[in-house]
Amino acid sequence: MHYTLIKDIFACPEQYAGKEVTVAGWARTIRDSKVIGFVQLNDGSCFNNIQAVLNKDSVADFDRIVHLGVGSALIITGRLELTPDAKQPFELQVTDIAVEGASAQDYPLQKKRHTMEFLRTMPHLRQRTNTLSAAYRMRSLASFAIHSFFNSRGFVYMHTPIVTASDCEGAGEMFQLTTLDISNPPRTEDGSVDFSQDFFGKKVGLTVSGQLMGESAAMAFGRIYTFGPTFRAEKSYTARHAAEFWMIEPEMAFCDLAGDMEIAEDMIKYVLNYCMKNAPDELAFFNQFLDNGLIDRLNNVVNTEHFKRITYTEAIELLKNSGKKFDYPVEWGCDLATEHERYITEEVFGCPVFVTDYPKEIKSFYMKQNPDGKTVAAVDLLVPGIGEIIGGSQREDDADKLVARMQELGMDIESYQWYIDLRRFGGATHSGFGLGFERLLMYITGIANIRDILPFPRTTGSCEL
Ligand code: 4AD
Repeated sequence: MHYTLIKDIFACPEQYAGKEVTVAGWARTIRDSKVIGFVQLNDGSCFNNIQAVLNKDSVADFDRIVHLGVGSALIITGRLELTPDAKQPFELQVTDIAVEGASAQDYPLQKKRHTMEFLRTMPHLRQRTNTLSAAYRMRSLASFAIHSFFNSRGFVYMHTPIVTASDCEGAGEMFQLTTLDISNPPRTEDGSVDFSQDFFGKKVGLTVSGQLMGESAAMAFGRIYTFGPTFRAEKSYTARHAAEFWMIEPEMAFCDLAGDMEIAEDMIKYVLNYCMKNAPDELAFFNQFLDNGLIDRLNNVVNTEHFKRITYTEAIELLKNSGKKFDYPVEWGCDLATEHERYITEEVFGCPVFVTDYPKEIKSFYMKQNPDGKTVAAVDLLVPGIGEIIGGSQREDDADKLVARMQELGMDIESYQWYIDLRRFGGATHSGFGLGFERLLMYITGIANIRDILPFPRTTGSCEL
């Protein structure tokens, strides 16, 4: 590929001045005045379009090109001329244009502002709009920042499986995967479906979390993280739940809950700093068009010395004493709803808040049981505008206590024996958390709906393409 990225030309036009360059992209607009034509070309590398100027005398095919539809794919070669007195800082005096693919007249993205709802109907094209191309560039950049952060701290990146026999969260939200004929499955003598005849010889599904395998890896490498797609068959229609989302899950041996929170805080600050440094144009755009307080808020987070830390019990007290009428009433033992989380992080503290030590009944089986017998060493990180973006815990490292809790919950001990064995073969204090990547991106971009930060969202009742 010998094309120059439009972003590189905008970064340093002087370097290209007077020289011949070739760019490749899609026409945002095409105009002509009989002998001269103008193409605004965008290649997805940045917001900016390059203006290409065509003279009828010097461009063969001039008439065809100036009548091409918006969205046409073009490879344009020309000489870059600085135009300090014009609206755009430079333009390309075209010497050659190759039409890679003309765009039909019914191309739906014409030059006007479209609603996010309208754009959701065309996930295959919406990446070409300013808002969504910026969102997915940010997605790419933030992924890189996550890897860079963990790499700099000596973490090993583990690939945990997507197909699994373990329901990590024990919430029954696994998508089932089968090659059996579902209209007529084989059955055992007692009439239940005979999964021993299924592809894997047992019942399996799509992973809800890589944590359990992550824990086994932490017992080999000390510090690991996973970063991959995660699936939840959770009937939810909110703007922050998807059936397929990406999760980052670090797991650290020889680390307690306080150490877990430290890593989470450092990671969030690192990723925010990285995005602010490397995507200032995207952030300025989001700040202008989606959320006027965005940049201030991100600055505030990276400059906060310590995120606030409170216990669940303190959070319940704050909510009860708030004098507010919530849709879901608050009592010790209840799960925190988004309205509660947002009250705490937005109205009480105005910054990210770690809430720790939740009642064991509302948390997963693997969490470290606290000496009070009622709570577990769990942590959620709540952030303004969204609510929970991280859920984590110190893990139960006492095999007997773990088994007792699993029995209480009626879990099949035998199929988790490998997990229990990790406590028998050199178990260690260990902790980890899961960061919902889309929720983090919603926080960074101000995009309000998870359906827009996922390029191809899969949500309850919807799986386009
Ligand atoms: O709190 P969760 O369920 O925790 C776990 O899965 C643990 N196994 C993580 C760990 O300790 N390794 O999920 C973690 C995060 C949530 O805080 C949220 O940000 C995100 O994953 N998340 C979702 N994001 C989008 N759509 C959904 N349906 C989500 N469910 C969870």
